[in-house]
Amino acid sequence: MICRILLLISLTSCVSGRLVVAVTQTSYQAEENHNITLEWMFTTKRDGSSTSLSIICYMVTDRKPSVLYYLQKGIEVPESQDEQFAGRVQSEKAALRKGQIRLHVSRLRTDDSGLYWCEVKIDDDLGANRCHLNVTATVDHQQGSGGLYVGLVFTAAGLIAWGVLFCIERKPYYRY
Ligand SMILES: *[C@@H]1O[C@H](CO)[C@@H](O)[C@H](O)[C@H]1NC(C)=O
Ligand SMILES: *[C@@H]1O[C@H](CO)[C@@H](O)[C@H](O)[C@H]1NC(C)=O
Repeated sequence: MICRILLLISLTSCVSGRLVVAVTQTSYQAEENHNITLEWMFTTKRDGSSTSLSIICYMVTDRKPSVLYYLQKGIEVPESQDEQFAGRVQSEKAALRKGQIRLHVSRLRTDDSGLYWCEVKIDDDLGANRCHLNVTATVDHQQGSGGLYVGLVFTAAGLIAWGVLFCIERKPYYRY
């Protein structure tokens, strides 16, 4: 399986053009834990009947390529998906018939940032294109100041409680 994927990747890097793959957006910006839909479009003169259509989409970072979607001759091969994307990627089946690849990626992580390639193969025609995704960490200022505020309230409450206890404890002493 892995060999086949690598073969498809290497084939695509050698052959290009005959099948045109385009992206609707070259760059996406998103926040951690949000969802995004990455989109590609492919056009071919050949009959793009589903049984001859193969697609592999993978993310490239400086470490290694991770597969997020693999369709082999019209059949999804979830076993080929990288663990990083397990249960987080959904392909719109209806879109494929219109020559669109629409991948919904949910619960985005900062390490999802990178270049996303989709390679399309119909019979002997190949094509590929890429887009960039940048996932930024959620910086929640409000939560930070909220925590500080709660901390201050607790400190104040603590001081008051201590003062009250101190007064109560002192009272009997004055009776003597
Ligand atoms: C993200 O997608 C998941 C399922 O794919 C859904 O349950 C969730 O509500 C979505 N979240 C947002 C913020 O759209
Ligand atoms: C990702 O987005 C952040 C915040 O907008 C920006 O500062 C950073 O330069 C972007 N990184 C890339 C590689 O585009």
